Amino acid sequence: MQQLKLIPFLIITGLLLAACSADDNSQEKATENEDNHTSVNEKQDIEKRNNTEKEKEKEDNSDKADKKDEKGKNKSDKAKDKDKGKVTEAGSKIAEDPNDILVLVNKAHALPDDYEPADLVFPDVRFPFTEDLPKKQMRKEAAKALEKMFAEADSEKLDLFAQSGYRSYERQDAIFAANVEKNGEKAANNYSARPGESEHQTGLVMDVTSPEVNYGLEIEFGDTKEGKWLAKHAADYGFIIRYPEEKEDITEYQYEPWHIRYVGKKAAKEIMSEGITLEEYLGVK
Ligand code: DAL
Ligand code: ZN
Repeated sequence: MQQLKLIPFLIITGLLLAACSADDNSQEKATENEDNHTSVNEKQDIEKRNNTEKEKEKEDNSDKADKKDEKGKNKSDKAKDKDKGKVTEAGSKIAEDPNDILVLVNKAHALPDDYEPADLVFPDVRFPFTEDLPKKQMRKEAAKALEKMFAEADSEKLDLFAQSGYRSYERQDAIFAANVEKNGEKAANNYSARPGESEHQTGLVMDVTSPEVNYGLEIEFGDTKEGKWLAKHAADYGFIIRYPEEKEDITEYQYEPWHIRYVGKKAAKEIMSEGITLEEYLGVK
């Protein structure tokens, strides 16, 4: 009799567990290929775990202390800037002209939370999925340049695919939170921007991939013929590889051979031919 009473309870518990795991799966799907560079980060995590956990704790703590006084500003300077509405809670400067094609967005320079480009369009290029998701969009000028670049890549028999373009502040917030959950804030912020600090919110970015890397956003993409072609020709269409190899000390992000940022042909040619970053081109960190 006692056992019979337990049966409905067990059925309900089973149903609840199934529902929770379905939610987890859809959350994972949502962030897939949007800054979810699992393999790279897992490799980094393993290396980091091999260092002593104590070292890590020390780093985390000094990081927190550093954050209190970012960019050498003292508290009263930051308070003044904040009064003028020019810095975020984290101390990043807020762009005065987010529509500028050369707008700098990085860990020290953010976009206004509510910034959404007014001229977003869907570029007519290949994506590895068919749904018209918001992440297919780019600002018009960047979208046209991307179309021209894909047309040339096609004529050279390359298999380029666009994967992820515009992201709203809220979308980046969700992606960053999922990455923090997975890898911790410090590791996540090495490959995924905090909301407001992602160039994807400018509408001037597209993450590009190919079948050879299973349409993923992986460092190996840089070694494929599509990745090499992109590094060589992106500037002809006004794009730069925004996070180059061995420039991590300046960009503060790991190498991303797939993330191309539209800056216009003049700036792109100078940046790519001189092997510099947007920060160096603009003379700002
Ligand atoms: N992956 C780049 C840094 C971003 O999240 O915008
Ligand atoms: Zn990107």
